[in-house]
This record gives sequence, structure tokens and C-alpha cells, in this order.
Amino acid sequence: MSAQRKIIIDTDPGQDDAVAILLALASPELEVLGITCVAGNVPLPLTEKNARVICELAGKPGTRVFAGCDAPLSRALVTAEHVHGKTGLDGIALPDPVMPLQAQHAVDFIIETLRAEAPGTVTLCPLGPLTNIATALQRAPDIASRIQSIVLMGGAYFEVGNITPAAEFNIYVDPEAAEIVFKCGAPIVVLPLDVTHKALTSRARVQGFRDIGGTLGEALASWTEFFERFDVAKYGHEGAPLHDPCVIGYLLAPELFAGRFINVEIETQSPLTLGMTVADWWGVTGRAPNALFLDQIDTPAFFEMLTRRIATLNAPAATAP
Ligand code: BDR
Ligand code: CA
Repeated sequence: MSAQRKIIIDTDPGQDDAVAILLALASPELEVLGITCVAGNVPLPLTEKNARVICELAGKPGTRVFAGCDAPLSRALVTAEHVHGKTGLDGIALPDPVMPLQAQHAVDFIIETLRAEAPGTVTLCPLGPLTNIATALQRAPDIASRIQSIVLMGGAYFEVGNITPAAEFNIYVDPEAAEIVFKCGAPIVVLPLDVTHKALTSRARVQGFRDIGGTLGEALASWTEFFERFDVAKYGHEGAPLHDPCVIGYLLAPELFAGRFINVEIETQSPLTLGMTVADWWGVTGRAPNALFLDQIDTPAFFEMLTRRIATLNAPAATAP
């Protein structure tokens, strides 16, 4: 096997974050250096606990989980219990984790890791509000040039908003942090709602999860069944958009995705459009491109890979082809 790609997953689990983490932990091409947690879908004490629940479910209790920022840079925290439930992982009751939370703060871990590893060898995978990443960049500007890539779930252009008419949740919760990240100069890949609203579960796909068997299969199926009720009611979708797994899916199989390298700026002032990702899709501003903004996904191939990979966690001896 060629060298593994080193990643840090920055996350606020969240059922779709959970599926993303399982996909990463199931993929031999990826070395998960750590999972850094942030306040987002639910408050920080729940997101860090949920991350550990997920690692134990994956049979990977040695994974290092760090707690980070408990509130956005300069705003009150907005959460999404209306989507994810009170715990953030509603859908199935899983045991409290036994594995420890690391003592180090997530931001210190991100800085230390980027300084310790060879430049250009660590990819950051933000799946929640960008508070931890922006705080790290503010405290240690030297790390920006050492980042291989930031592959993040957030924003929207054609789909516009989900938490407000104009803004997607992860960017809306901490727009100042998003602005810092989008201006940092590191290569950025964005998996916006334009992609994730095409990565929808269906009855057959949820059955595919359940067929994995055991607690793992039941967790995947029940999480997505819980999570989909919100999007089915709101959008009339046939199932749940698996937003965050698209980030890991892109790392594993970028050929399943397509988009444009464009300029993306973040609205931080207007109360009406706060947190909007102003994406220059049509190249009308003359502003320099700073992000690969994706809008297409091969959904059947994505679900096939996701299900096949996660099933390997039920049989630790097996390797994913
Ligand atoms: C994003 O917001 C959260 O609710 C999901 O986990 C995802 O990261 C989608 O807007
Ligand atoms: Ca998330």
C-alpha cells in the first residue's frame, strides 16, 4: 500500500459527521491523526463524547479525540437539535464511551501536528463550524503554508441556505472563522449543499446500511432514519443528505466529484445574509480563485463505496478493496 494520507477530522457529531468518521476509520488509505471536536450541532461536551462513542462503535478506541472551542469566535453558539436531536446522535442508544478524551486542547493539537509533520502532508477535514481551524490559524499563522489541503463541508451556491434562506449551517454558526479559513491561502476544497443535497439516502440505501449487520449496521440505519425526517419534511427529499461523508468520499475518490475553482468570500456583516458563501461561480468579479467549489457527485458510486467500506469495520481482518 502506498503511504497513507494523514488527516485531522474537525467535527461536531451529528449523525452525518458520525458516518463520515466511520468511513475514514474504515479506509486504509487514510491515517486519522486525531479527531478534533468543536461546538456546532450540539454543545462541545456532547460533540466530544459523541466522537468517542463513534470511535468505539468502529472498534477503534485508540483514536485520539480532542475537545476544542466551545463557542464561535465572536458570537453566541447556534445549535441544531431540531435536526440531530438532543444528543446530536439521536436514533439509537449507544453505551457511554470508555476511551479517554485527550488532555490537550484541539487547537494546540492542530498547531503542534502541522508543525511536527512534514510541510504539505496533513489534510484538515472540517465537518462543522470552522472555529477550531480559524483559532489555530490566528494563533499560529505559520501553519497555513504547511497544510496540504482543507477539504470542508460547508456553504452553498445554487442551493443557497439551510439554516437561513441565505446561509448553510456550518458557515452561519461562525462566519468570522469561515472568513479566516477562506482567506488563509491553503488549498481549499468545498463540499457545499450543492453536492450534499445530491447525496441522499433512499429506502434501499438505508436497507444496505442495515444489512451490514450488528450494532454498526443498526446505528447507521437508525441515524439516517432519524436525521432524514427533517429534510424529508422540509425539502420533500426522498431521504437524508449525507453531508459530511462527502468530505471523506472526496479524499478517497475525487473522480466521483466535479466543480469549479472559483473565488469564495464569506458574508460577515449583513443580518439578512450572514454566513452566505458568496461564490463567484460565473467569474464575474475578477477576484482570485481560492477554492475548488464542488457541485456534482456520482451518488450511486458514492453510496456503494460508503457502505462497502463501513461494512469492513464489522470484520477487522478484512481489507477494503
Ligand atoms: C452541516 O450542518 C450540520 O448539521 C451537518 O452535520 C453538516 O455538517 C450541513 O449544513
Ligand atoms: Ca457536521
